Formats: sequence, structure tokens, C-alpha cells
Amino acid sequence: MDRIRITGGAELNGTIPISGAKNAALPLMIASLLTGEALELRNVPRLADVGLLLRILGNHGVDHTVTGKRPGQTAETGQTIRLGASSVIDTTAPYELVAKMRASFWVIAPLVARFGEAKVSLPGGCAIGTRPVDLLLMALTRLGVEVAIDAGYVIAKAPKGLKGAEIDFPKVTVSGTHVAVMAATLAEGQTIIENAAREPEIVDLCDCLVKMGARITGAGTRRIVVDGVARLHGAVHTVLPDRIETGTYAMAVAMTGGDVLLENTRADLLPSALDVLRQAGAEIIPERDGFRVRRNGGGLRPVDVVTDPYPGFPTDLQAQFMALMTRAGGTSRIRETIFENRFMHVQVLARLGAQIRLDGDAALVEGVERLTGAPVMATDLRASVSLVIAGLVAEGDTEIHRVYHLDRGFEALEAKLSRCGARIERISG
Ligand code: EPZ
Repeated sequence: MDRIRITGGAELNGTIPISGAKNAALPLMIASLLTGEALELRNVPRLADVGLLLRILGNHGVDHTVTGKRPGQTAETGQTIRLGASSVIDTTAPYELVAKMRASFWVIAPLVARFGEAKVSLPGGCAIGTRPVDLLLMALTRLGVEVAIDAGYVIAKAPKGLKGAEIDFPKVTVSGTHVAVMAATLAEGQTIIENAAREPEIVDLCDCLVKMGARITGAGTRRIVVDGVARLHGAVHTVLPDRIETGTYAMAVAMTGGDVLLENTRADLLPSALDVLRQAGAEIIPERDGFRVRRNGGGLRPVDVVTDPYPGFPTDLQAQFMALMTRAGGTSRIRETIFENRFMHVQVLARLGAQIRLDGDAALVEGVERLTGAPVMATDLRASVSLVIAGLVAEGDTEIHRVYHLDRGFEALEAKLSRCGARIERISG
């Protein structure tokens, strides 16, 4: 298995192009099941999760083509994928595939909305918490879908089609909102989604669905209204920039010091994370096609953070921020409110010399003078990249094992960092 070796101590200086958002690309690809016409998605990141979802969609009968390189494109310019679901032959999503990627469970919504039936494996356990699907099933039930659970599968049936309804989520859920919106586009009548997630990836999905002929208002607010239509058609859509990748590299620069332009991205996608970085001592300077992150001289200040649904501080940046705070001049308190078990990186950061104490749903991070490199093993995607951030300043070599976690969500990580001066390499085998 591949591993990544980082020799800490180099500042980051240069430009990092930001890829399309994984967490937008996945639901957008799933939305291709809603129509028999082609959906062309641009700026799709080259990630293991994208490849896996193509396999899952292919198993339902969705064809895809990946467009070759075009003039002016670089290795980091996202790929264009055309998806065609004109001949869906199988509405079952088997355990072997769904177990590998939780988001693939969301195929249940377009399948039952368009074909009146779906059989989708329950996603099973996940390293960052129990992550149930009860709210997704509640949304479908509200839309008139009959839901039964049998031998680890959810069997969803709506032979007469879906009916618009009011769906009031008791807690903010990204997956629940994606599923409710996708299903409601083809329901008869109006659906009102209350307490909807406001994440930019929800807005991106809704923008694409509107291009496909859906009637949706309120995306990005707590109340989304969907007026169902009889059918959707093809469209061309560009995936929005990855705000978590953006925030991760911003934190890497804040950690090492230096000056890096993050391009093909938008500061307005991560307001609270950038605010926190400013408080910690980084400068954020807007540029035409992104923004610059700079930290010269001064040390890092400790900042307390609580994860929250958008526009709050994202749980997907919590591990990276914790890595940053291990070097702050004082103690910071980081509270995780979205997932109950998203602190596995604490023990791993400790191997590099971090001083972190857990207190219920919070971690108290006492900044230290220095971290020291060590072999480490990560347990999930964002936890692994927090080790990269720590490794960039740790003395000596940090070797990160189980790199496949990183490959799920970070396109060309070593190339992007090494071009800015990091000493980082992938060791195969
Ligand atoms: C999405 O997961 C993201 N995944 C996650 O990113 C991200 O951490 C999360 O949103 C929160 O921002 C994708 O977009 C593919 P939720 P999702 O439904 O949709 C509870 C990454 O690293 N809940 O908003 O699954 C749930 O347990 C990943 O890229 C229920 O109780 O998250 C959690 O506590 C990891 N019942 C909370 O809601 C349900 O039916 C928020 O979950 C559904 C969710």
C-alpha cells in the first residue's frame, strides 16, 4: 500500500489550484439518474470516490464518458464527465458497493422518484460515528414512498409516483436535504423542505437541477420549495470549488508560514473558517480568482471553535484546524457537534508530540513548541490530511500510511504541495 513521506520545516509559497468539490460532484452524479437525457458535469475532481460512484451508477445501467484533455487544460483542470441514464436496468444498489461509500445510498431518491422502486443496501457503520439514515427515509415516506427494511436493504416503493409534501427536518442534514430535493423534483405538486441544510453543495445541486428543468426556490436558505415536474432533461453544469480542500490548504499555509494563492476558488464558500484563520494570525487577501493566504513572522494564536452546519465552522475542517492549533501559543478548545466520534486523529496527532485532552465532545489543544515526525496511520479522509498539515512542520520525517483515505478526497495532494516548496513524496508499494 502507498504511503506519503513528509520532511517538515519548509514554508509554502506559490499557487495551489483548487479542484471541484467532491461533496457536490457526488450528488450531482447521482442526479443523472433523474433523467434519460445526458448530464454533462465539468470540473469533476479526479478522486477515488468519483471512480467508485461511476462503478455504482454503471451497475444501475448509467453510461459515462470522460472527455479527454482540451487546449489550455492542465492536469489539475477537472475532468468533464457525461452521464446517461436512458436505460436503467437495475434499481438495486448492492451492499458490496454501498458499503464502500456512504453517499451512494442517496441513489435511492432518484431511483424511486423516476422508476417507482429502489432496493438499496443500508450503508453500515462508519468510522466517524453511527450516521443513521432515518431522516432520509422520513423524507421519502413524507413524499408517499413505502419504505421497508429487509435483510440489510431498504426497499422503497411508490408505484403511483411521489406526492409533494411538507418535510420538516428535526436536525440539519446534508444527506437528508439532498435526498428530499432530488425526490421532490419529480413528485406531483409542491414540496416544502423546512430546516434544510444550507451548504453550498446543496445550492450547487439545486442549480444543476434547475438547469435540468426542476422548479426549485430557496436553495441556500432554511426553506426550500420544490414544485414537481413530470420529467427532467439533460444539462451542462460546472461543479463548484471544493471549500474543504480550500480550507485545508489555507490551514497548511497558516501552519508553515509563507504566501500561497489559492486559485479557482471562492472565499465566500468558507466564511467562518477564514474568520477563524484570521483570528489565528493568518492574512487572507482576496484576489480575482480566489484568495491569498499569508503568514509571515508572527506565531499562531489559539482560537476556540465549535463545528456547526453551514455557514458555521465545518466539521470537515475540524481535524485540520486541530492540527494547526497544536502549534498555537496557548490552549484552544475545539468542540465537535455534528459527529459524535470524530476525534480519532487526536491519538495520532499525539504520536507527533501534540498535547490534546478530550473532554466529552470537546478537545483541549495545548500548543507546543515543536512536533516531531513519526510513522502514523489515519482512519478517515479529513483525519489523514490533518496529519499532512502537522507533518509539514514536524521535525524530521512523518510517514503517513493508508493513503487511500487521502485519495478519496484530495486530488493531486503531493503535487499541489510540493510545487509550493513542501518536501512531500508518495512511496508506492
Ligand atoms: C455530508 O455527510 C458530507 N458528505 C460529510 O463529509 C460532512 O461531514 C457532513 O455532510 C456534514 O457537513 C457528503 O457530502 C458526501 P449529514 P452527510 O446528513 O450528508 C445525522 C467528508 O469527509 N443524521 O449532514 O452524511 C448524522 O449522523 C464527509 O467529505 C441523522 O441523525 O451528513 C450527523 O450527526 C464526511 N439521521 C448529522 O445528522 C439521518 O438520517 C449531519 O449529517 C441523517 C443524518
